[in-house]
Amino acid sequence: MESRTSRRIKKTNEFYFKSMSVQFRKHRVFRETPSVIFYDISVDDSNASDLVVHEGPAVSPPNDVIGAKQFYIHHHQVDHNRVLSGERVFELVNFDWKFPYHIVHLNRHSGALVVPIGTYHRSTSGENGSIVINQAIRDDEFNPETEFVPVSAGNNSELYRVLVHEQPVIHELGE
Ligand SMILES: [Fe+2]
Repeated sequence: MESRTSRRIKKTNEFYFKSMSVQFRKHRVFRETPSVIFYDISVDDSNASDLVVHEGPAVSPPNDVIGAKQFYIHHHQVDHNRVLSGERVFELVNFDWKFPYHIVHLNRHSGALVVPIGTYHRSTSGENGSIVINQAIRDDEFNPETEFVPVSAGNNSELYRVLVHEQPVIHELGE
């Protein structure tokens, strides 16, 4: 029997899929006083948080041994990647989207970038690194052993084709 969490994550993912493109979950500024901003960064149904710290111009996941780009793809987790400090560029590839390749520039003002289930993704930091919190939604079948296995464009021909032949949609800061 499917659990409530699994049904909810399926519904959330279907909603993101129908939009067929890049989505953000915006924060709300609760209060702003001199030198202080107080945000509400809640994400509905988020039941896990990962913190990913890049201490310099790092890449997650790193390129493979022959220098081909690698990506993560989740089967039981929707990501909401929110930059807390610095700048991070995400590359997203989703074969079901009208425009399958997106490059998204993020900083603290961008809100959380949604990465639906089945979307290849990788991220690169600016010179000074960055701190990202992923306010994830995981279903009951989530298993860290299988959710974080990098896929190389060097041995995935469809991914390779998109990276080489599709023009990326670029999302600059502030869009
Ligand atoms: Fe992820």
